[in-house]
Amino acid sequence: MQIIVINSQKGGSGKTMLCKHLAVEAERSGDGPVFVIDTDPQGTLTAWHSKREAETPARVDLPFNGMEKGLELIRTHGAAYCIIDTASGRLDIASELFKLADLVIFPVQPSEDDLTAAPVTVQNLKACGVPFVFVLTRVKPNTLITAQAAAILSKHGQVAETLIADRTGYKSPYAKGQTSTEAEPKGAAAQEIAGLWRNIKSCLHENMQESEALKKHG
Ligand SMILES: Nc1ncnc2c1ncn2[C@@H]1O[C@H](COP(=O)(O)OP(=O)(O)O)[C@@H](O)[C@H]1O
Ligand SMILES: [Mg+2]
Repeated sequence: MQIIVINSQKGGSGKTMLCKHLAVEAERSGDGPVFVIDTDPQGTLTAWHSKREAETPARVDLPFNGMEKGLELIRTHGAAYCIIDTASGRLDIASELFKLADLVIFPVQPSEDDLTAAPVTVQNLKACGVPFVFVLTRVKPNTLITAQAAAILSKHGQVAETLIADRTGYKSPYAKGQTSTEAEPKGAAAQEIAGLWRNIKSCLHENMQESEALKKHG
């Protein structure tokens, strides 16, 4: 089982949106079973999940101090991926979750405020030594700030090739808790999220190969 944590210390950066769309996409593309965990006391992911009629992705409630044991249990139940949504503003909790993660997704909007806030999360990620990838979110097409943000972030870590656009579909309610990608499987958002999921899988794959090589060569 691969554990993906989605974190940014900036509120409203798109963590929960990515968590639900990636979890649904992983199941849709046959990479499940996927479990999601909501560690944000605001419970946005939980509220979304409770509206769903679809059986997947599954959601589990784990107390923070029972996270490691709980994850082991999910692993033994055959989970392929566990995607953990987090709150902003809790560096201590984020660090504990980073220690359990195979990859951290760090959503950043190409905006002055997001870029100014980014170093706090980057320092925390680097201190924990966990692999991470930036995902540019709420991107407006062909804007200078997007190119600048990608250039700045790439000096600090890998930036996912797929950019997530600012789309009404990502924030609109759909019947039965569906994501926009389920409601409009041939739409632009569906293609975008499929592309991002492929990027995330290659990051995980590269990290696995790297750590196997390290083990081999001591
Ligand atoms: N790419 C996007 N396009 C349009 N709206 C978005 C996008 N990403 C997130 N949102 C909306 O922005 C708001 C904040 O996103 P959210 O995922 O809840 O942020 P976080 O979990 O980081 O606080 C929500 O209303 C969400 O629906
Ligand atoms: Mg959230």
